[in-house]
Amino acid sequence: MAVTSSSDRGSWNSKLGFIMAAAGSAVGLGNIWGFPTKVATEGGAAYLIIYLLCTFLIGFPVMVAELSIGRRSGKNPVGAFKALSDSKFFPFVGLWGVICGVMILSFYTVIAGWAFGYAFEEIFYYFGWDTLAQLLTDTGHGPKNAVIAAVFMFGTIKIISGGVSDGIEKATKTMMPMLIGIIVIMIGYVLTQDGASEGVKEYLLPDFSKINASLIFSAMGQAFFSLSLGMGALITYGSYLNKKENIPQAAAFVTLADVGIAFLAGLMIIPAMYVARNAGIEIFVGDQLASSTDLVFQILPALFHTIGGAMGLILGVVFFLLLSIAALTSTISLLEVPVSYAIDEYGLERKKAAWYIGLGILAVSVAVSFNPSLIGTFDYVFNNLGLPIGGLLICVFVGYVWKTDSAIAEMENGFIGIKQTLFAKVWPFFIKVICPAVILYNIVSNFL
Ligand code: PFF
Repeated sequence: MAVTSSSDRGSWNSKLGFIMAAAGSAVGLGNIWGFPTKVATEGGAAYLIIYLLCTFLIGFPVMVAELSIGRRSGKNPVGAFKALSDSKFFPFVGLWGVICGVMILSFYTVIAGWAFGYAFEEIFYYFGWDTLAQLLTDTGHGPKNAVIAAVFMFGTIKIISGGVSDGIEKATKTMMPMLIGIIVIMIGYVLTQDGASEGVKEYLLPDFSKINASLIFSAMGQAFFSLSLGMGALITYGSYLNKKENIPQAAAFVTLADVGIAFLAGLMIIPAMYVARNAGIEIFVGDQLASSTDLVFQILPALFHTIGGAMGLILGVVFFLLLSIAALTSTISLLEVPVSYAIDEYGLERKKAAWYIGLGILAVSVAVSFNPSLIGTFDYVFNNLGLPIGGLLICVFVGYVWKTDSAIAEMENGFIGIKQTLFAKVWPFFIKVICPAVILYNIVSNFL
């Protein structure tokens, strides 16, 4: 099938550029804020193990499927399903993905804004400007939330307007290595502090009795969100992928980068909680965490303030800037999904599409800024449920409509001889049977 493309569509300049961009999409608040919080509240090392299983056994095969659909069709999620089948139903699956992306982005920018605000909070705190510092810690402050979310959205729109290789690829190629460097430095610091070893034990020594259905549902949702799966972000990124690239290998790099950074973030934050406790900060009430969803936003600033002085300031600022950078490389991919849809399906110019859609989503972000309780609802509908449902339908599409043989044929570009590999024998079984069965079971058991 011909790959239609216009100058507004664009493509990746290099394989590394693609991997950095896809890893940038994967690595975000989900890794550094969501994952450690869930580890801390839902079972420590047991959660880590189930999360790893979900990532490699369910997430990785779905990622390969999304990238294959994207590269074969050369289209956005809606156009891709139209291009690869006559089905009237599946383009709606693509549209559902676009809607999930838009809605996730509307609250993601608000949380990213909190993180960005905290970088300044650390500075204001250091200089004793308490009123300003307190304003930035107030996650319920509508006008403050809206202003910072807007700053974040403008940054995202600017990068997306720049296009695929000059905008997305350039930005993520410099930001990703910085991010990893900063995390490693933070781990080095935290692990040398008193109390850290207790956190390391909690993080790495599993208590298998903690594994149950709700833990597995949560870990699966986390894996989808973290890998940016189920809403066509990787169909979109795959559509800019060169035919020379090896899809399973690229997907493996991205998966490993995502898991690696989540693992490192856990190794930084879980011990940091115990260091904080050791320093007299209350993190547990009985054996429950004192704050769960805002773990990162409550406990870590307290820890930085306890460290105090220039060291506390530097660590605090650097950490929250890092979180903001990670969030930005994810908001880029969230906005790229509807933008590519508008470019492909409605012939809109990239810059216009980025601004119109970005500002439209910002309007929803402003509503969320003033009603942060919407975050929980949006997160449940469009993330916890929306992404696994999207992932399930993508498996059904590749397994039974487009067919795994067609996908393997697409993967032969860039991976000659794939048909003789074990991967070509095992992957179709995962896409047709294992992944849909596990995802469906999890969704149903969640409702029950
Ligand atoms: N993977 C991102 C994170 O972990 O924060 C969130 C995300 C980005 C989800 C892009 C979905 C997506 F398409």
